Amino acid sequence: MRDRIPRPHATVILAIAADGKIADTARSPARFGSANDKAHLEQQIAAADAVLFGNGTLRAYGTTLRVTAPDLLDWREERGKPLQPVQIVCSQSCQFDPNWRFFQQPVPRWLLTGKSAEFPSQSPTNLPLNSMFDRILFVETAGGEIDWIDAFGQLANLGIQRLAILGGGQLVASLLAAGSIDEFWLTVCPLILGGAAAPTPVEGKGFLASFAPKLELLAVKQVGQEVFLHYRVARSTIHQGIGSEVNYPH
Ligand SMILES: NC(=O)c1ccc[n+]([C@@H]2O[C@H](COP(=O)([O-])OP(=O)(O)OC[C@H]3O[C@@H](n4cnc5c(N)ncnc54)[C@H](OP(=O)(O)O)[C@@H]3O)[C@@H](O)[C@H]2O)c1
Repeated sequence: MRDRIPRPHATVILAIAADGKIADTARSPARFGSANDKAHLEQQIAAADAVLFGNGTLRAYGTTLRVTAPDLLDWREERGKPLQPVQIVCSQSCQFDPNWRFFQQPVPRWLLTGKSAEFPSQSPTNLPLNSMFDRILFVETAGGEIDWIDAFGQLANLGIQRLAILGGGQLVASLLAAGSIDEFWLTVCPLILGGAAAPTPVEGKGFLASFAPKLELLAVKQVGQEVFLHYRVARSTIHQGIGSEVNYPH
């Protein structure tokens, strides 16, 4: 039974403009959140065993957010966790620029790719991919996309109980369609980005309203000009993740 395979508890964390966009039409990095939002994101990352993002997000930022706040580093150390969660990028093309700062950051880096990927043995600058990543996970694919049941099963077997999903919209859409997301944290930021082509939290083919994943609102918090929304994905649309029982920093 595929839906009985253990999998990490997965939480999506995104900043959105008041019109729902997660970036402008130039697909710029989303740096419109406040310092409070950045601290909230770092807290969610610190609570995770690993973070997952798509190659489009890595391409936009070229970098990732590390845990640097002393109280969060202490929190991880006290629980015997490595100081930094694993940073996992998913990609089918495996096209990365080794000059992205991400590849110099002092974090554990994993690549998640499909068994059917056209896996180049070397990056565009002739650096072998296995020298850029600490671990490469090959997973089943369906229709050219990663099979998330297989991928999350492999992650659970490697001890990943809690996963923070950092976007972008293409990744979130495929995870949601696979029933692999448990929670959303959305920070509504006070600006309008607009633009039909600007990325949104969930891209892909979309859901007809009658089949749309349903959410339960867990909390609403206003801090300054921003609103932090915490949702749980209704149980009928997911199968139970592991790693839900531990107390995480809030
Ligand atoms: N506001 C926020 O909090 C926030 C957060 C993150 C990102 N963003 C914005 O979002 C934009 C990027 O979003 P996006 O939708 O283009 O990118 P994305 O989901 O980050 O990345 C898409 C790429 O990731 C890989 N990928 C994603 N899902 C996959 C799957 N199911 N199977 C195999 N590969 C998969 C593929 O890489 P390959 O092409 O290499 O195969 C795909 O082209 C940027 O503008 C960024 O600024 C905003």
